[in-house]
Amino acid sequence: MTQDELKALVGQAALKYVVPGQIVGVGTGSTVNKFIDALASMKDQIPGAVSSSEASTQRLKAWGIPVFDCNSVGELSVYIDGADEIDAQGHMVKGGGAALTREKIVAAQSRQFVCIADESKWVQILGAFPLPVEVIPMATARVMRQFAAMGGVAQIRHKNGQPLVTDNGQHIVDVTGLRIHDPLAFETQVSQWPGVVTVGVFAHQKANVCLLGTASGVKTLTF
Ligand code: 5RP
Repeated sequence: MTQDELKALVGQAALKYVVPGQIVGVGTGSTVNKFIDALASMKDQIPGAVSSSEASTQRLKAWGIPVFDCNSVGELSVYIDGADEIDAQGHMVKGGGAALTREKIVAAQSRQFVCIADESKWVQILGAFPLPVEVIPMATARVMRQFAAMGGVAQIRHKNGQPLVTDNGQHIVDVTGLRIHDPLAFETQVSQWPGVVTVGVFAHQKANVCLLGTASGVKTLTF
């Protein structure tokens, strides 16, 4: 099976976590796009979705699925999103699609985080994927020096020759060379640096369930 087929498989499998009659939290990325396309088949059973990015909002609306603002709804029963890396405890690296801040907000507002991922995302230790960090532009140089002091190599993400600007008007710093042995402590530490909006380690908002797409089908892992 191709990676794209595995993404479609887990996107479809996630439908069983959507609670009829309740608003669903929706992440961002190519795997979530498969989920959104599958969700269209049950759009008449849910009031709508809370979205973690402009891109997902557009896709949801294109299917006729209403999108609610976070502030106009209470706790969500479930949030469904992909990951760039996930470990055996359900800790993740996210933000490859630059949507990490809104993803963390919607995840925090949800009782259950269901991660949908193909098996290439499964890791022993987080850090091989360049760690995305959303940073206020005036703080990027200082934050990059702080990562260098930790042994990381940080660079500002660019798009079309310009620093990428997130949905929140900030920049993304991607950090390579880290091995994150204690994701909870790492997330706590980096989140406190001035100018850091969100670090792409999701340990406080880790997955409760992972639907992992493998050559032999979908494996359900619970944490
Ligand atoms: C976006 C994310 C995505 O969940 C992550 O990048 C995985 O994306 P994909 O499903 O395209 O592999 O965190 O900010």
